[in-house]
Amino acid sequence: MYSDFSPIRWKNNCLELLDQRLLPDKEVWWTHEFPEATARAISDMMVRGAPAIGITAAYGVALACMQLAKSTNADWRGKLNKDLELLAQSRPTAVNLFWALERMQTVLKSAASPSRAFTLALNEAKAIHQEDYRMNLAIGEFGSSLLPKEANVLTHCNTGALATGGHGTALGVIRTAWGKGNLKHVYANETRPWLQGSRLTIWELLRENIPCTLQADSAAALLMKTKKIDWVIVGADRIAANGDTANKIGTYSLALLAKAHGVKFMVAAPTTTIDMALGSGNLITIEERETGELWRAASQADAPEKLNFHNPVFDVTPANLIDAIVTEKGIAKSNGNGEFNNAISVWFSA
Ligand code: MRU
Repeated sequence: MYSDFSPIRWKNNCLELLDQRLLPDKEVWWTHEFPEATARAISDMMVRGAPAIGITAAYGVALACMQLAKSTNADWRGKLNKDLELLAQSRPTAVNLFWALERMQTVLKSAASPSRAFTLALNEAKAIHQEDYRMNLAIGEFGSSLLPKEANVLTHCNTGALATGGHGTALGVIRTAWGKGNLKHVYANETRPWLQGSRLTIWELLRENIPCTLQADSAAALLMKTKKIDWVIVGADRIAANGDTANKIGTYSLALLAKAHGVKFMVAAPTTTIDMALGSGNLITIEERETGELWRAASQADAPEKLNFHNPVFDVTPANLIDAIVTEKGIAKSNGNGEFNNAISVWFSA
């Protein structure tokens, strides 16, 4: 029923990644054989989106083991640990990266040789990839059950097949709702400065003929005031145990606007995005990216030397602005005071 498109594929013992920096103009796939190039693909945003970053890093570990199986390095465990460290340093905010690397490390503990490690790592990376797709289908079912008929929704950034193992999280909810016939229209924020909304979300929506409108991020308040918007639906890069949610810069402003206009606010993410070790969103590391991203968004080549920049690429939305957190395990509804009545911790018990 749904397109099972994924921007990540394993082919002929190589990792292939669709270059998201070039979309929608060009669809270019790059082939990776080394963990170093995989880490660079993540930090340079060839692949992006929290679950997609985790899946890519898992395949990066498989590539590391594959290279070690070809080498005569006696200290293969030492080199593998260095590769894992490099992958862990590629981006700081999405917890899916660290979750996937930990899962790979656990499975590799029993490997007695690099070639055994390669077999184990590849199987585990493929499992992480497939599980993410299945979790997204479940998130889509749960999330779409909250929408009224003929729903109008607003989304931010790209949370679709491109950002995940397929289908998407917030965009997965939107896809499922469209498939069930209870979605009227999607408004997509362009998502400055990297333009994940205008370049990627719109590309995905148009491919499937889902009715959509692109708007400047700063048009959100007017949209909520003048049109009937039922839900703002966003993804997440890291959700703290109390429900505070780090997501693409601009998400926090949208949540404030939604509260002011009586619009419901949904966070859709797999449980692999929840960091139970963090009690609150204040503890989440927010990535600051290079200043050229801001300057290039203004179609300028060289920034004046004296110009100061501020380019945090995520922000944290406090739990009290969120009405529902939807995962593959179900729906955690807010009691209106920023509390989810233990629903989140129940997902992690036994
Ligand atoms: O900087 P990006 O493009 O990796 O940021 C992506 C987001 O913030 C997404 O909303 C989030 O990862 C959820 S993706 C399913």
